[in-house]
Amino acid sequence: MITIQGLEKRYKDGDQEIVALHLPYAEFDRGTQWAVVGPSGSGKSTLLHCLAGIIRADGGQIKTGEGILTDFDEDALQSWRSIEIGYIFQDFNLIDALTVKENIELGAYLSLGHYVSGYNKTEQFQERLQHLLETMDIVNLLNKRPSALSRGEQQRVAVARALIKEPSLVLADEPTASLDEENSRRVMDLLTSYCKQSNATLLVATHDPLTKSYCSNVITLTKGGHA
Ligand SMILES: Nc1ncnc2c1ncn2[C@@H]1O[C@H](COP(=O)(O)OP(=O)(O)OP(=O)(O)O)[C@@H](O)[C@H]1O
Ligand SMILES: [Mg+2]
Repeated sequence: MITIQGLEKRYKDGDQEIVALHLPYAEFDRGTQWAVVGPSGSGKSTLLHCLAGIIRADGGQIKTGEGILTDFDEDALQSWRSIEIGYIFQDFNLIDALTVKENIELGAYLSLGHYVSGYNKTEQFQERLQHLLETMDIVNLLNKRPSALSRGEQQRVAVARALIKEPSLVLADEPTASLDEENSRRVMDLLTSYCKQSNATLLVATHDPLTKSYCSNVITLTKGGHA
C-alpha cells in the first residue's frame, strides 16, 4: 500500500510560487488501478514524478512498503526507481541508436534486480520477453529502430520496456494520448492484465474517457489548490 499525506510541490515563477501539486490524502492499495485525472496543469505528471522518485516533493509524505519515499536518500531513490517502478512516458523516450530489442532489454538492465551479466541470455528472460512481444504484437519489429515505427508501435515497445523488469508500481503518463482506439485498447489491455497477474499497482494520468474506463478507481486533482 502507498499512502500520501499533504503532498506538495511548488515551483518559483519570478516572485511568485506556483503550486504544481497539492494532494492532502490518498491511499493506493497494492494491485489497484487508478486513473489520475484533472485539468491541464493540475499536477498529474508532477504526482507521477514524485511517486517515481524522479523529483522530490517540497512537503508532505509518501509512505510505501519499502519505507518513507519522501525521506529516501539518493541511493535508496535510485533502487526504488530501478527495481519497483515501470514508467511509461508520454513521448515514449525510446533510444533511436538502439534497436527495438535492445531498447526493451535496457528496461531489464536498468533494474538493479536484474543487473546480472548474461541475464538476458537466460531462459527465464527469453520466455518473458517472448510473452511481452507476442501480447504487444511487436515480434516482427525487433531489429528496427524506433524512428522507423508508427506512434502506436513505439508506444507498445515503450510498454514492453517498462514491464520487462516486473515492476510493482506502473506509472503511465498519458500512455494513449497519441493512439487510435485499437492501439489504445491494446496498450490498456496489456497494462491492466500485467497489473492483475503481478498484483502491481497502476496509475495512469489521462484525459481520455476510454483509458479512464479501464481503471476501477479515479483520483481527481485540481489546479493550484485543493484536491
Ligand atoms: N519544472 C517545472 N518548472 C516550473 N513549473 C513547473 C515545472 N513542472 C511543472 N510545472 C508547473 O506545475 C503545474 C503542474 O504541472 P503538471 O505537468 O504536473 O500538470 P499536468 O496535470 O500533468 O498537466 P497536463 O494535463 O497538461 O499534462 C503546471 O502549472 C506546470 O506549469
Ligand atoms: Mg502531464
